[in-house]
Amino acid sequence: MQAIVVRDEGVALETIDEAFLGDAPLTVDVAYSDMNYKDGLAVTGKPGVARAHPLVAGIDVVGRVRESADERWKPGDWLVLNGAGLSETKHGGFATTARVDGDLAVALPDELTPERAGALGTAGYTAALSVLRLVMEGATPDQGPVLVTGATGGVGSVATMLLDAAGFEITALTGRPDELGDYLRGLGADTIVARAELEGSGRPLQKATYAGVVDTVGGEILANAIARTMPGGFVTACGLAGSHDLPTTVMPFILRGVTLAGIDSVWASHEDRVDAWRMLARGVDVDLLDSMTTRIGLDGVIAAGEELLAGKRHGRTLVEIGA
Ligand SMILES: NC(=O)c1ccc[n+]([C@@H]2O[C@H](COP(=O)([O-])OP(=O)(O)OC[C@H]3O[C@@H](n4cnc5c(N)ncnc54)[C@H](OP(=O)(O)O)[C@@H]3O)[C@@H](O)[C@H]2O)c1
Repeated sequence: MQAIVVRDEGVALETIDEAFLGDAPLTVDVAYSDMNYKDGLAVTGKPGVARAHPLVAGIDVVGRVRESADERWKPGDWLVLNGAGLSETKHGGFATTARVDGDLAVALPDELTPERAGALGTAGYTAALSVLRLVMEGATPDQGPVLVTGATGGVGSVATMLLDAAGFEITALTGRPDELGDYLRGLGADTIVARAELEGSGRPLQKATYAGVVDTVGGEILANAIARTMPGGFVTACGLAGSHDLPTTVMPFILRGVTLAGIDSVWASHEDRVDAWRMLARGVDVDLLDSMTTRIGLDGVIAAGEELLAGKRHGRTLVEIGA
């Protein structure tokens, strides 16, 4: 079998024996994986993601069960597994074969092809967890616009699509307004705001502009987004593409009743995963998804990881493996 293996000495596409994968209950023929920010870090050898070495990288698996010691899954079933320790402490999806636990795997929704589930990947699923959380907390389109930060990225792009499908007015924040403004409008963004507008340290309370925020970048941008959230508004934070800092104050929380909710896709419950994938199956415009998806093979993963970290990619990158 072939796999992208992270070792102390470096990261490479290798031919390895399946015994390398250990003995988790499901053996899966991997059809697709995809590139996320975390994958970019892992395949370029950055510390923090792959915490056990040697380890197969890739936080997502879309594939078909070949052998099962788990009565919930049988050979031939299509599954989607995102996070759940893959590429952190467990062998992941940048491989022709994966051995995984079935506990957090989700059956591929009928409405989605394996290819599109792969294209959505963790980024799409995290976008869905974020939008579901906003809606569950009572956000409705009539309350005002929702700000999406890092909008051209994987999470931001899919969040924009899902919010548009749910009828929200969307302000998309991007570092590439000239280059990718049309792309974002095509996904459903109503207003494009240049990233610089929310950079730098700002006042603790600013003009209340957004009813909700889906943040993927952290740092001063998240702090300023919170400071611009309307009374009673809701902010989700899932990412740190800009910074892991959060230089905010308690003011928006105690004077405007703003709520900040963290989104963790890695260990989300099975129930939340099923809900998120159902939302993706219903809310994603598949033609738009196809148009924002670029394709690579396992041999293109390391170069794509470097580009992702350099901010040179947008939308989703599908890794075609055993398709
Ligand atoms: N909590 C979770 O479970 C979870 C799950 C998935 C992802 N994440 C995190 O969410 C973040 C986004 O993931 P992704 O897969 O969407 O990544 P991505 O495809 O690389 O997109 C990140 C976007 O952030 C913006 N950005 C890049 N550098 C920036 C900077 N220095 N300052 C501000 N904005 C910057 C860019 O958008 P523009 O050019 O449009 O500004 C870029 O397209 C990452 O930090 C990732 O680790 C977390």
